[in-house]
Amino acid sequence: MLAFSAALALGILLPSLRASLAGPVDDPLLLEELEKALDLRMREDFDRVLDARDPGELIEHATLTDVDFDHRTLGIDTLFIVGDELFGYLFRPENGWGRGGADPGALDYTPRLRRVHDGRAGGPDAFGCFSCHSKGGPDGAGTQSQNALLRGDGAATGSADQRNAPHLLGMGPIALLAKEMSAALHAQAASASAAAKAGGHRVEQALGAKGVWFGRIAVDADGTVDYAGVEGVDRDLTIRPFGWKGHQATLRDMAEESLQIHQGLLSKRIQLEVRDGALDSGPYGEGTWDDIDEDGVSLEIDSGMLTTVVGYLAQLEVPVVRPPRDPALLDAFAAGSASFAAIGCGGCHVPVLELENPELDATEPAEPGRAPFVINVAKDGDGPKVDPKYAADDTAYLVNLFSDLRRHDMGEGLATPSAQGNIAARVFLTRPLWGLAETAPYLHDGRAPTLHDAIVLHGGEAAGARDAYLALDEHGRAGVRVFLASLSRQPKLFAP
Ligand code: HEC
Ligand code: HEC
Repeated sequence: MLAFSAALALGILLPSLRASLAGPVDDPLLLEELEKALDLRMREDFDRVLDARDPGELIEHATLTDVDFDHRTLGIDTLFIVGDELFGYLFRPENGWGRGGADPGALDYTPRLRRVHDGRAGGPDAFGCFSCHSKGGPDGAGTQSQNALLRGDGAATGSADQRNAPHLLGMGPIALLAKEMSAALHAQAASASAAAKAGGHRVEQALGAKGVWFGRIAVDADGTVDYAGVEGVDRDLTIRPFGWKGHQATLRDMAEESLQIHQGLLSKRIQLEVRDGALDSGPYGEGTWDDIDEDGVSLEIDSGMLTTVVGYLAQLEVPVVRPPRDPALLDAFAAGSASFAAIGCGGCHVPVLELENPELDATEPAEPGRAPFVINVAKDGDGPKVDPKYAADDTAYLVNLFSDLRRHDMGEGLATPSAQGNIAARVFLTRPLWGLAETAPYLHDGRAPTLHDAIVLHGGEAAGARDAYLALDEHGRAGVRVFLASLSRQPKLFAP
């Protein structure tokens, strides 16, 4: 069906478009963009009409199930197209929305949205992923009114931990950077343990990865590890680069969590772990393991659907730096870029981290027995992509994310209502700044309408850099803001 609708768009519409544009527009890049936008628009229109005729058509186009993965050779590009549909899909009761009326078969059954989450059970608070990730373009950020109201009492806005949706570009490279950094920290801990055992005495080991420092551990001769000196990362030394506080390590876990808390859909993994007693069903519902959220649907998300979401996210483009064209603004940009480093912003918002291996297995961490599905984040899907460090060499890639993927104490002013698991109220992951230009409002709850406000609200470990920004004259501060406003995304045409 996809191939047919694509052919429809390209075959019927483009020749006439080309004819009408042949005069003034002969920029091949622009034409290619137009083709893509039109193709997408036509496909969406076609699918919508099909779904109006035969309800259920849309979800068929928007999911790849375990069966698809097991029995067919799926192309990476198919995964991207289907994942794109899934991202824009509005979930329905028959897909397994939790929380409806007593009778899911009733003619007037509608899901009950819950904007304020009820503890870890979540909403459902939205029909689809795009409901919140849309500002600045597809897969973008959220406005303040799209904030998620997490871990509340299910009713009062004030009870919730408000979070603004970040944009989702560049997720693949970030996931892989975190994995490489975790591996480096684990190797350092293992070698400290081996040295302590072999030498028969206590060994202290500094922890660092890609030039970022995470404090130290000490290991006694008997193998006891002292984690008191570990900083900016959990004691299991696993970097968790997703969420404002950095609470999820993999895209797969983030996708599974998003589907659960925003759309009320429970994965097969969660069901099976509840069945086997490995997981408490508490946050998810009171039903039996095969329908914990008691919505009459048993299989809501199988492993294939999670792989689809991850495969899609991992193939999205990365943001780019777009310096202003106006010469005076360009001067301000250059000065601002230098100040950003000089006043200490770059200490946390590290401009570039180097990625060694661009291959991401979309099934990781998977249920046992699943074959890997590997995406090359430097090549597959939508451009622009991360650049190789050396031309004609693919041994390293430059990821211009402006983050150290480490957690920091940001002071009392920014603190969340309470700790999130073991992450203290004042502690946040350094937010990557790439793609910043299109994502206002800023900070974890969207409290800062402008870049200036976002900077001024920095406290705790960032107080020194904030004060150094405030100590600049107005011209100097303006430069920093112009620089930040150039951290943007590639302009593209897209179907509304
Ligand atoms: C109700 C709004 C809302 C909806 C709907 C939503 N998200 Fe999000 N998303 C957020 C917020 C808020 C965060 C930050 C969460 C946090 O800090 O814990 C986030 C974070 C993420 C992240 C991590 C981004 C980062 O840089 O840390 C990913 C990936 C993601 N969402 C994917 C999805 C997918 C896939 C869906 C659909 C299944 C979805 N989201 C639906 C609001 C939403
Ligand atoms: C100690 C580490 C640290 C330093 C130093 C630091 N930041 Fe941040 N920055 C963070 C963290 C953590 C966040 C997210 C805080 C939150 O949302 O509550 C953040 C958020 C931001 C945001 C908002 C991003 C968004 O998407 O909403 C901007 C803009 C920003 N920082 C710019 C700067 C500038 C400019 C400087 C230098 C004056 C600076 N930062 C210094 C850690 C730091």
